Amino acid sequence: MSNPGFETQAIHAGQSPDPTTGAVVPPIYQVSTYKQDGVGGTRGGHDYSRSINPTRTALEECLATLEGGARAMAFASGMAACDTLLRSVLAPGDHVIIPNDAYGGSYRLFKRVLERWGVRHTPVALGDLAAVTSALEPGVTKLVWIETPTNPLLAIADISAVAALAHAAGALVAVDNTFASPYLQQPLALGADVVVHSTTKYLGGHSDVVGGALVAKTEELGEILAFHHNAMGAIAGPFDSWLVLRGIRTLALRVERHCDNAEKIVDFLSAHPRVATVLYPGLSTHHNHDVASRQMKRFGGMISFLIDGNTDDAISVCNRASLFTLGESLGGVESLIELPAAMTHASVTGSQLEVPANLIRLSVGIETVEDLLDDLVVALG
Ligand SMILES: Cc1ncc(COP(=O)(O)O)c(C=O)c1O
Repeated sequence: MSNPGFETQAIHAGQSPDPTTGAVVPPIYQVSTYKQDGVGGTRGGHDYSRSINPTRTALEECLATLEGGARAMAFASGMAACDTLLRSVLAPGDHVIIPNDAYGGSYRLFKRVLERWGVRHTPVALGDLAAVTSALEPGVTKLVWIETPTNPLLAIADISAVAALAHAAGALVAVDNTFASPYLQQPLALGADVVVHSTTKYLGGHSDVVGGALVAKTEELGEILAFHHNAMGAIAGPFDSWLVLRGIRTLALRVERHCDNAEKIVDFLSAHPRVATVLYPGLSTHHNHDVASRQMKRFGGMISFLIDGNTDDAISVCNRASLFTLGESLGGVESLIELPAAMTHASVTGSQLEVPANLIRLSVGIETVEDLLDDLVVALG
């Protein structure tokens, strides 16, 4: 097929029927080692499962295809993927630019782990290109870390514009594409060098697996990352790889429904008297709506909003919801509600990345939207 579509690739890339049995789904190769036909006589390079495993390879080939990269690596978690990338391309003395409202766990990695190894970071509002320019230290800034949309404020960065500035200063560009997924946004085509995923979220899609991934644009960067993937060892296991691959086959369908439901909920929240502000890149009032419209196919299933009230009011809303399950994480088929300041982003309290105490985040699932709206009517009181 000359130019297969996204949905076709999601179902077939890396997933040819098993050559031995014809099984249409890649089997779970739950194995640590492989028989060699004489010393060094591996079958297709299969020597040890930290280095290579057919189920993980199937997932990695699929991810590389969907993101348009040269090579992908699957990890035990999104944070393991971030950590491996950062320790592969950075060294003591280097400087990194990060978003000023990144996922709390990514910030914690920069602040509490990498700083101790001599890697400095500057949080910047990446939507402000002048701020990016003045934070770049040419030759010293080795990486610009983009998250777009951001977790939890749904801020948007212009990937092409930031990549142009970063590359001119000699820095690599990584994009955490967890919120959008490759179905909605293709960072490598927009100029990024590497894509990061928590596959725990939309790619897995069913809240039953923790995983991560890196996708490198070039073979050269892919080689470096693959070396560290094996050397550092935070690989995805065969069953976890299989679960993520199973989720990916329905990614397009699920994300379309996530977006349909989110748009209706945004309309509802925008008109609700107890809601002060709705944060959603699809709103024409969003500060970077034009950029989001250019670089995203649709605007995703994540919504944040500020309740007109204090922390206790926000807690009451979370506690009154019932179909929206109170819980961390996102991107699964079921809807979740959470209070970032006390839950997912508690680790940024007191930092430049602190989030408002009355901010509520929704991961809108694919249930019947009327049921979700009924639940929010009760939750908002
Ligand atoms: C945007 C983003 N990046 C990375 C991660 C980390 O992924 P994991 O929890 O799979 O380690 C998360 C987790 O919530 C996230 O939301």
